[in-house]
Amino acid sequence: MAFATEAIHAGQEPDQSTGSVSVPIYQTSTYVQEALGRHKGFEYARTQNPTRLALERNLAVLEGGMACHCFASGMSAITTVLMLLEAGDHVIVSENTYGGTYRLFDKILRNFGLEFTYVDTSNAVHVSEAVRKTTRVVFVEVPTNPLMSIADLGGIGEICRREELRLVVDNTFLSPYLLRPIEHGADFVVHSTTKYLNGHSDSVGGAVISNRREDAERIGFMQNAIGAILSPFDSFLVMRGIKTLAVRMQKHEENARIVASFLEEHPKIERVFYPGLASHPQHQRARALFKGFGGMLAFETGSLAAARSLLDNVQLCALAESLGGVETLISHPATMTHASVPAQQRARLGISDGLVRISVGIEDVEDIIADLNKALEHIS
Ligand SMILES: Cc1ncc(COP(=O)(O)O)c(C=O)c1O
Repeated sequence: MAFATEAIHAGQEPDQSTGSVSVPIYQTSTYVQEALGRHKGFEYARTQNPTRLALERNLAVLEGGMACHCFASGMSAITTVLMLLEAGDHVIVSENTYGGTYRLFDKILRNFGLEFTYVDTSNAVHVSEAVRKTTRVVFVEVPTNPLMSIADLGGIGEICRREELRLVVDNTFLSPYLLRPIEHGADFVVHSTTKYLNGHSDSVGGAVISNRREDAERIGFMQNAIGAILSPFDSFLVMRGIKTLAVRMQKHEENARIVASFLEEHPKIERVFYPGLASHPQHQRARALFKGFGGMLAFETGSLAAARSLLDNVQLCALAESLGGVETLISHPATMTHASVPAQQRARLGISDGLVRISVGIEDVEDIIADLNKALEHIS
């Protein structure tokens, strides 16, 4: 069935005992067993929970994968995938990845003997050149956060197939409605469900979708062993959010296109980074890879003072970290999401002090534009 139908129905059979249309929140830590070794497939709630299982089945279908496992956060999902590796293994990473991912790799996993090389994944040649004998994984964000550079997913997928590397794609920014990375060669898709999947800024969670049976089994083993699971209540919230994913993504994009065009025309804005604009360097690639261009954009105000004036004066747009909620969120990557990336590296990547990021919400777009327009007047 088509996407919006699967989003509402996959894994969501009415509850067997009551007929409840909505999957109940099974708020339990354990399950009665009929006899020694005889149970209904549920023993202990870290290992299995029916609410989480319904969400996991739904997401596996939406991403076109073999199985999904849900976690307490996007970061614990990413950590669990990296736990497949051993000391001495090498990972190639998109160079302007989410700051928290960089922090996890650089400040924690490096201490366990994993090695990381950061490259510009918009050109697959850089990935090919970084491959070593010890390389096991390529970790890609499409598009990257916050500069919206679009990875050459097709080219990278081919390199991974040829070199027998696992391709991990963080699909948080687009959601499976806009991109299904497994169709382009990904072995794992990771999500911060906190963002578009849940969509209402009221839950923190993560997911790993695996495309191979043996990988899915190992992730399931580690989910249970490490224990960073998504709670039944959060599983319920994410499932409820996913039911409206298709319509939300359509409206996010409709609004983002209008906001991007408005900013591109504005005399106080130097540059807008939105893959839906013809001026975006990978606009044609985004057009070919994605079903739409999404709701995220960034723009250059020229200085910290200008960015501060804007951010101090918005009223509808909420100054906040995170993204993908129904409400418009505006942030300053250099001091917020990417503060853990060293200043020199931020400058090299183009994450300047004047850069502002917007997660365009699904409010009436005239109100978003009016708010930005008024706040921009304060930039001298
Ligand atoms: C692209 C991306 N991946 C992963 C994460 C981490 O997710 P969480 O905050 O749910 O741990 C984030 C958070 O902002 C993100 O933007």
